[in-house]
Amino acid sequence: MSSLLLKLAELLTDEYKLQRSLRGEIMFLKAELESMQAALERVSESPVNEIQGFKRFIGRSLRLLTAAKTQHQIATGIRDMRTRAKEVAERRNRYKVDSVVIPPSTATYIDPRLYGMYEESEKLVAISGPREELTELLMVREGTSKQRKVISIVGVGGLGKTTLANVMYQQLKGQFECNAFVPVSLRPDMKRILSSILHQVNEQSYSNTETWEIVKLMNKIRKVLEDKRCFIIIDDIWDESAWNLMEDALVDNNCCSRVITTTRIAGVATSCCCLNDGTIYKLKSLSHDNSKKLFYKRIFDCEDSCQPELKEISEKILRKCYGMPLAIITIASLLANKPRNINQWNSVHSSIGSGTENFPSMENMRQILSISYYYLPSYLKPCLLYLSVFPEDYTILRDQLIRRWIAEGFIHGNDVETLHNLGLHYFNELINRSMIQPALINDRGIVGACHVHDMVLDLITSLSTKENFAVTSHHHQLTHLPKRIHRFSLHNSDEEHSRTEVSMSLSHVRSLIVFPGAT
Ligand SMILES: Nc1ncnc2c1ncn2[C@@H]1O[C@H](COP(=O)(O)OP(=O)(O)OP(=O)(O)O)[C@@H](O)[C@H]1O
Ligand SMILES: [Mg+2]
Repeated sequence: MSSLLLKLAELLTDEYKLQRSLRGEIMFLKAELESMQAALERVSESPVNEIQGFKRFIGRSLRLLTAAKTQHQIATGIRDMRTRAKEVAERRNRYKVDSVVIPPSTATYIDPRLYGMYEESEKLVAISGPREELTELLMVREGTSKQRKVISIVGVGGLGKTTLANVMYQQLKGQFECNAFVPVSLRPDMKRILSSILHQVNEQSYSNTETWEIVKLMNKIRKVLEDKRCFIIIDDIWDESAWNLMEDALVDNNCCSRVITTTRIAGVATSCCCLNDGTIYKLKSLSHDNSKKLFYKRIFDCEDSCQPELKEISEKILRKCYGMPLAIITIASLLANKPRNINQWNSVHSSIGSGTENFPSMENMRQILSISYYYLPSYLKPCLLYLSVFPEDYTILRDQLIRRWIAEGFIHGNDVETLHNLGLHYFNELINRSMIQPALINDRGIVGACHVHDMVLDLITSLSTKENFAVTSHHHQLTHLPKRIHRFSLHNSDEEHSRTEVSMSLSHVRSLIVFPGAT
């Protein structure tokens, strides 16, 4: 949408000597689209298909502008776009897109992460280390402050934050006067969350709390917690404002209360801890040995049952999971349902990261990770999707990446310095949200490059292909490329590849990215 608006603004400059009536039409179109942009940004926060009509309209409009060569063609194109904008605007009114409040998770939607929530503790691996570290942090020592203490577990999606918080909850809840475990999630319904806390911390039952105002709920919780030592888990926070509200409700009564929060976002973890003598706990991924244990346990029940010819390929698969339990479990359950032969396992190995494996458990994992994608502000979405053009395990240099983002038009600004600084800000934001992993860190802590985790690469490649945003030669046979791709990335290009590429029609491709002998 932003690029369409920029193109329209360009047409209004003197360079295009357009007729007066046409300028009027462009101005109408620009104003109409600007008003749609805000609504579209809200809709794009969730993975819904309702925006298809808008997307088709924007796509067609961009093509018209790109293809139009003469003044006459531009005029016809703009008139056509104006008619379409009217149609879309009428549809927008019919469906009241502007007033759509994306509902907090509805009863019919089941978060796939819930299935892991009640994992039996015997099935967990390497949990004792983090459990002991957290117990140590939560302990009350003689002579130390009785202030409430907050610990925030932070890490990428699927790393085991909720699982660990739950283990702590089960272990310690008996030692406190009252307890609560509340999931917050992406679009928190604060009334429901506060009402859940109230019901958990107080044995007394209240009726109709769903009709209470937020302030009434907060006051009631504060009253109940006034003189009690409590242990509260607040799981999956995405937003500082949600935390601020809960922090006010969880009054600090100097009774040595403890709170554990979990989040994927480093900045949120910092705000949870800043006022509370808090500690950020960066959850580590599983070591290679523990990854192996979990992997084999899920497929064969024990490591010894693995056929020797499958061991090498198992190692390779595990290297792609980066010690992330969700990834290991997902791939293990995928393999458990396939014949145990090396060809099948090889094909699973090569499909990881390609965004093409359509096995339901892979879709589940993508869905879990995609929450982070849909939560990104709209300006960061194309920046992240663009990373799908790089080969696997590629070290992506920060400044080079920023220059590419600028060239693609993902960053808007008036001068080179502003553009670069904004690019830096976007790069750091993606790290902060655990979407990319920092690399080449210098003595002063400055991050010079990044890597994309294979599971994130799988997700963004799948999204990029669906959106016609970008495809790579690595994942598609050159003869079977999607019809309308915008960016085409050629990996490991050799002469033969290049010749095929030249003979192929790439007229609809906006960027061609070539990695000679990369990976
Ligand atoms: N130590 C472990 N051993 C075995 N399985 C684990 C371990 N930790 C997590 N898991 C499994 O991995 C999956 C993801 O874990 P969990 O939901 O706790 O991740 P998370 O970090 O909370 O993710 P999100 O950011 O999406 O909330 C679950 O199925 C869970 O059972
Ligand atoms: Mg979680």
